Amino acid sequence: MSESEKISPTAYATGYMWYRLGLSHEVLATPRGKRLDRLFQLLLVALRPIGGLPFDDLMLARHQGIDSILTRAIEAGRVGQVIEIAAGLSGRGLRMAKRYGGRILYLETDLPAMVATKRGLLGKAGLLTEKHAVVELDALADSGVRSLAAVAATLNPNVGTAIITEGLMNYLDPPVARALWARIARQLQCFPHGLYLSDAYLRTGNTSLNVRIFRKVLAGFVRGGMHVHFASNEDGLELMREAGFQQATMHDPRNLPETCVIAQRPGARRVRILEASLSKGQ
Ligand SMILES: C[S@@+](CC[C@H](N)C(=O)[O-])C[C@H]1O[C@@H](n2cnc3c(N)ncnc32)[C@H](O)[C@@H]1O
Repeated sequence: MSESEKISPTAYATGYMWYRLGLSHEVLATPRGKRLDRLFQLLLVALRPIGGLPFDDLMLARHQGIDSILTRAIEAGRVGQVIEIAAGLSGRGLRMAKRYGGRILYLETDLPAMVATKRGLLGKAGLLTEKHAVVELDALADSGVRSLAAVAATLNPNVGTAIITEGLMNYLDPPVARALWARIARQLQCFPHGLYLSDAYLRTGNTSLNVRIFRKVLAGFVRGGMHVHFASNEDGLELMREAGFQQATMHDPRNLPETCVIAQRPGARRVRILEASLSKGQ
């Protein structure tokens, strides 16, 4: 099993979680996901005596925060194509495809095994369309049929495009993450407008004992490291500029209309929504 593939079981847990939180379809709620989600819930209960970790709130803020910025970009006509990298068993592709129908093309991508699983689940339920597909993509590949470049080359170069990563970057060590951000910026340059969205975390405010224990358990589960890439908002913006983006913003969920209510809860304030973009002719 490759380093990357070890991360895949987490997608079953989050896939079930999105369903439990009302953000997904029952076909993506697998028995394996249910078992893993329960296991994480037990761990979170065990952390209560040392302050707890309202993980559901964090996850809701990150998922709905990404949705909100993507939705605005689609409705403003800036984005008509989406590549979601490491989509796992997330329900976003299904929700966006249902909401916008033929107006957008949504490619959900992941490693081959996860793609086979998701394609099987959605296909069997008759939920895939011409405008909503599940495609193999290895975020770490610089070239070849599973590279981001190869998948991006299948899109219409005249249509604004968004690339999303959610729940992936923390598993990548800093040089690998920087290389991926640069690859994403490079591909987005091929379109009139390019938008990158991701969940992001700051080192400040995420160092308490409960957070450190949770991160260690997660690292043990995927048998790899967990990385928090940004020391501060400014640091995040600088890394995006270095990657090749023209603009970047770290959104606090408290400042987005769609997440300001959930952001009243402390767990939700631990996450930021990273929005980086570039446009031709700027
Ligand atoms: C924590 S899950 C997140 C899934 C989904 N984005 C969500 O929020 O529910 C991480 C996902 O990253 C995928 N993954 C790991 N390494 C990858 C790589 N090199 N390229 C593409 N996907 C990868 C795993 O298969 C898994 O689906």
